[in-house]
Amino acid sequence: MTILDIRNLTIELETDNGPVRVLDRFNLQLAEGEIHTLIGESGSGKSLLAKAILGFINPRWKITADRLWWRHYDLLALNNAQRRIVTGRDMAMIFQDPSTYLDPNDKVGAQLRETIPAGELTGIYLKRRADRQTRAERLLHRVGIKDTKEVMESYPHELSEGLAQKVSIAMAIAHNPKLLIADEPTTAMEPNTRAQIYRLLAKLSAGQGMSILMITQDLTAVVPESQRISLIYCGQLMESGPTEQVMQSPLHPYTDAMLSMSLFNQNAGPKTRLPTLSGAIPTLQHMPIGCRLGPRCPYARRACVIQPPLEKRQQQQYACHYPLWEDSGHD
Ligand SMILES: Nc1ncnc2c1ncn2[C@@H]1O[C@H](COP(=O)(O)OP(=O)(O)O)[C@@H](O)[C@H]1O
Ligand code: SF4
Ligand SMILES: [Mg+2]
Repeated sequence: MTILDIRNLTIELETDNGPVRVLDRFNLQLAEGEIHTLIGESGSGKSLLAKAILGFINPRWKITADRLWWRHYDLLALNNAQRRIVTGRDMAMIFQDPSTYLDPNDKVGAQLRETIPAGELTGIYLKRRADRQTRAERLLHRVGIKDTKEVMESYPHELSEGLAQKVSIAMAIAHNPKLLIADEPTTAMEPNTRAQIYRLLAKLSAGQGMSILMITQDLTAVVPESQRISLIYCGQLMESGPTEQVMQSPLHPYTDAMLSMSLFNQNAGPKTRLPTLSGAIPTLQHMPIGCRLGPRCPYARRACVIQPPLEKRQQQQYACHYPLWEDSGHD
């Protein structure tokens, strides 16, 4: 069942040089309990999308959508207070740098105890305090931390990066959110720590039916448990679909290029069609009209100055006038 349904979401920001469109008719559907990986290079609009879902919105941004639905809530129709209640109850986010989430001046234990929802505690003050402590320890166990006493007594800067990220995950899941947005949670981490964090997130998703929107910059970070992936380029959705299907038979030139550049491709056999994309990502002030990949795409033709509509082929969705499949006329 789809629990997050985003159709044609556009976000325009005001800058000194006029308005810029950072998300351009973007689409995303997330199913209950699913891990959905959103892949896009730096500056492609991934974090702004996360903010739009969570409602961390600057009143100066112009946001329009045909649909921005979370379960049965039309998020754009809610006022700020209603929106805070819904997202505060149902959603949580973790960031690339766990220190964004953790207060450097407070011990981890105190911060964790604070995240235990008061409504779940009963009895007199002393009992509630003891319950908070037990639940905080249990949360650390859930994220795979065994030495709970030592971690609780530490200040955030005394923890390794991986441990700090696990603590921030523990805090994020304290209220059992239905959706966790993980915004590049491992970008600066070593491969081992990175793998540990991904395994943990996948386990949490499977264990409690939590949906995860996993945001990352490249295909090498897609976990095997990720059921679907979406690729975003300069605020436009390029392709979306079941992970394996998209990896094995990309329909969009951008996906194909990303695959060629990723380690995944080394396992999947050589791709000869499009080893890399030439040129650089355009700046927000100089976005190409139509398909924004145009100036870098070897298949671009005149029609590409019109933004391609989102089409469906089997379970894959793609936005390209000249998609890649055997009989589509490409070499
Ligand atoms: N508050 C803001 N004001 C102006 N531009 C912004 C603001 N936030 C983000 N941007 C710009 O919007 C684009 C998308 O940003 P972001 O969503 O952070 O990208 P990503 O997370 O994919 O790296 C970037 O070009 C960024 O510079
Ligand atoms: S629409 Fe045109 S420019 Fe865009 S990816 Fe497809 S072929 Fe390339
Ligand atoms: Mg970001």
